[in-house]
Amino acid sequence: MTIAQIDQPNDLDAWWMPFTANRAFKKNPRMISRSKGMYYYTPEGKAVLDGTAGLWCCNAGHNRETIVSAIQHQAGELDFSPTFQYGHPKAFQLATRIAELAPGDLDHVFFVNSGSEAVDTALKVAIAYHNLNGQGARTRLIGRVRGYHGVGFGGISVGGMVANRKVFGSLLAGVDHLPTTYNREHQAFTKGEPDWGGHLADELENIVALHDASTIAAVIVEPMAGSTGVLPTPKGYLQKLRQICDKYGILLIFDEVITGFGRMGYAFAAERYGVQPDMICFAKGITSGTAPMGGVLFRKGIHDAFMKGPELAVELFHGYTYSAHPLACAAGLATLDLYADENLFERSRQLESQWGDAMLSLKGLPNVLDIRTVGLAAAFDLASIPDAVGKRAYQAMHNAFHDLGLLTRLAGETLLVTPPLIVSEDQIGEIADKVGKAIRSVA
Ligand SMILES: Cc1ncc(COP(=O)(O)O)c(C=O)c1O
Repeated sequence: MTIAQIDQPNDLDAWWMPFTANRAFKKNPRMISRSKGMYYYTPEGKAVLDGTAGLWCCNAGHNRETIVSAIQHQAGELDFSPTFQYGHPKAFQLATRIAELAPGDLDHVFFVNSGSEAVDTALKVAIAYHNLNGQGARTRLIGRVRGYHGVGFGGISVGGMVANRKVFGSLLAGVDHLPTTYNREHQAFTKGEPDWGGHLADELENIVALHDASTIAAVIVEPMAGSTGVLPTPKGYLQKLRQICDKYGILLIFDEVITGFGRMGYAFAAERYGVQPDMICFAKGITSGTAPMGGVLFRKGIHDAFMKGPELAVELFHGYTYSAHPLACAAGLATLDLYADENLFERSRQLESQWGDAMLSLKGLPNVLDIRTVGLAAAFDLASIPDAVGKRAYQAMHNAFHDLGLLTRLAGETLLVTPPLIVSEDQIGEIADKVGKAIRSVA
């Protein structure tokens, strides 16, 4: 059998694809079979510029040699080892390296395999922490409208995307939501954090007044809501949330699954905003998408609260078979080395202004209702075709892939671009040009 035959699937029926219009895809697929640097390649060998870092994860670009060889070497040395009551060296090394990158006393890392698991882990630990401290009534969790925190029951409960919640029953009890920070009237075509909207953090005061602080465990927010369309938090918003959480003894969780590892110009967006959360959820960029891995960073005080009782007792009844999988740990260590060697977080920070200008230059194209940029991320809200909501953006994404050789991503009627941090200045221009053409193709 030739490579080409192996690369071509012979039947598209059996795989029920995630977050995909399965029937439309299978009629007219967008197939990817190879990657290198800034490019994907179709099975026919056509190059597609990766405008989305895979799914916001391949921050170092694709098939980087040091990461590939670290994974290959690890597979030959230690394929799997249990992490319940046993340890392997690279898990400890990676946890230390991540803690060094995190702000303040976020000193302890719990490994999981995805962003969704990271969120559920953080929410569970928040409730358990208060329980240990004699505040067992603190079980409520506060998320935000238009937040995305993965697809576990905890994540969709605190999340604020209607389509992800409405057919899945009653979800977790005791959850409330802050309002979204997005307001087109006040924020349209903003580069970076909007000036308007910092006051929306005060809504937390109203939620506390309604439920009483003694019932609230934690607030979880993304420093920039990515999956719902690149919604940067307004100036001053996160600082205010921190103050209110401190006032009432509520834990503040930053979900940095997207904003971590350079997307916002820093190891973590917490650093960009100068705000110290109590926990940070991460995933995606930790291995640059090469192996499934996620985790939660905990402040020392939270971790230490569990390290009591008999020494032989398990302190936290939580974990996954593949927590700190050796292949993912090897990938993570090589990825962090590459980020440091190539100064990729700084590079992202330096490119941000040029990126924002290039994307905002598309203002005025037909059907473009708003463009938002922050870090190395941008979103284009398009006007819906009457009676066919979502069709315009879907068709633009499809045309970009097949006709223009650009990978984009969809969020409803919004087109997203979030390239690897190795994107060149020329490629920023190319992405803007191709997004423009894709939008014009659906005018
Ligand atoms: C902020 C945030 N949290 C959680 C998740 C879920 O991550 P995963 O798909 O790895 O479960 C995502 C995924 O995009 C995300 O953007």
